[in-house]
Amino acid sequence: MKENKSKGKILIVEDDPALLGALKVLLEGEGFSVLTAGDGEAAQEAAARGPELVVLDVKLPDMSGLEVLKALRGRDPKLPVIMMTGYVTTETAIKAMMEGAYDYISKPFKMNVLVGLIDKAMESSRLMRTTVTPSPTLPSADLKGDTLIGKSPQMLEIYKIIGQVAQSEATVLIAGESGTGKELVARALYHHSGRKDRPFLAVNCAAIPETLLESELFGHEKGSFTGAAARKIGKFEQCNYGTIFLDEIGDMSLLTQAKVLRILQNQEFERVGGQDTIKVNVRVITATNKDLSQMVKEKTFRDDLYYRLKVVSVNIPPLRQRPQDIPLLAQFFLQKFNKETKKEVREISAPALERLMTYPWPGNVRELENFMETAMVLCRGEVLLPEHFPFLTEGDEEHAAILNTLEARGDLFLKALEPQFETLCQTHAGKVFDTLVGDLEKALLQLALKRVDGNQVQAAKLLGISRNTLRDRMERYGLGGE
Ligand SMILES: Nc1ncnc2c1ncn2[C@@H]1O[C@H](COP(=O)(O)OP(=O)(O)OP(=O)(O)O)[C@@H](O)[C@H]1O
Ligand SMILES: [Mg+2]
Repeated sequence: MKENKSKGKILIVEDDPALLGALKVLLEGEGFSVLTAGDGEAAQEAAARGPELVVLDVKLPDMSGLEVLKALRGRDPKLPVIMMTGYVTTETAIKAMMEGAYDYISKPFKMNVLVGLIDKAMESSRLMRTTVTPSPTLPSADLKGDTLIGKSPQMLEIYKIIGQVAQSEATVLIAGESGTGKELVARALYHHSGRKDRPFLAVNCAAIPETLLESELFGHEKGSFTGAAARKIGKFEQCNYGTIFLDEIGDMSLLTQAKVLRILQNQEFERVGGQDTIKVNVRVITATNKDLSQMVKEKTFRDDLYYRLKVVSVNIPPLRQRPQDIPLLAQFFLQKFNKETKKEVREISAPALERLMTYPWPGNVRELENFMETAMVLCRGEVLLPEHFPFLTEGDEEHAAILNTLEARGDLFLKALEPQFETLCQTHAGKVFDTLVGDLEKALLQLALKRVDGNQVQAAKLLGISRNTLRDRMERYGLGGE
């Protein structure tokens, strides 16, 4: 059975004893431990007892909620505060957001809405507070926080970049396939930066509908579009002096990209539908699993923003390109799940490890983590065996088949290419690469177009490239075009 661990410590500040009592009972029922205060002075005393989140009424007998907010955030700028306001106090709520409140809720409210907000704020607070330490070895069991594990040369290089750029104010672009650890790297950069005591807000651009993302980031003025009933303060304003993590930036619309570019260049923006120019001081970290250079060619990503972002970039290679990290990561997850589930699995058998090493890991480290968790649930003894990785066994055969054909095809290909290569070494020394790759591209295009009777849509689909790329290459090699 799971032990009864508190989900976190919350301070409620409310002068109405009935509401205060009800909230306490409710939140304790949800698994939080609760501190209470009936006025501003008591709130500040209670804050010394280390709450991870505060739910704060805007109207208190001795001072305004806004003053209490300023005092609380003055001593801890990372403390998330949810304001409770009356219907008529939207203005105060907006001021509170400018002061960095996490969010506000208007009275009367449904308890489940408040609990939903608290869960979100707690998660955001956890990301801010849990440090991420890069480590080329297994961390000792009592190390607090999260660890970015890996000892491959590629990961060591990434640790070096983190060390070099974390302290600077530079914008960083983190690129890598899904599950490679982009978010961990973003947090490692934050935790090693000069802004580590200031807020960190993550926004997943892919998770928010395109029409809402702009207002989520920059806020909007009342009446700027249907449904904009009051002014809204966006993440950039709320996170002033902190760090914003724009995750999945490849999913951002061109319009929003333009606004982000302006922030990076001039640290200024306007709210949606607003006239006033607002100045902010925010460090931006971005991540993507898309090929932004390709998107630039297709004109779905602004080139000026791309060049600005990639000045400092961290490319996390997929796990299959750094097999040295697999045993270490597996060992790390073994330790982690032993601790979490109170199991005592001692080791991974050699044949099981062999399987882990040869599997292609399309879902990268996240997939390895999930497989290790499943394996440890299945394991009754002290050693992980191949049979504890049933999914891997199936995938493994498929993978071996793919590898075999690739190898066979590779051999033939090599033989076919060799005479070409030899000739070019004579005629185009110093330009062999570009010439041969160009010839190859041109030939591929010709073959594909011939196969589909010159239909460009079908040719692009067959080759798995975009129509823009196809047209671009056809022009370059003087193909078709009549
Ligand atoms: N080098 C690593 N060391 C330890 N854990 C890792 C490492 N890389 C990834 N993980 C773990 O794998 C999971 C996925 O990592 P993360 O969310 O950072 O990936 P991501 O690249 O942001 O993925 P996505 O593109 O799907 O958002 C997390 O649970 C993370 O803790
Ligand atoms: Mg991610």
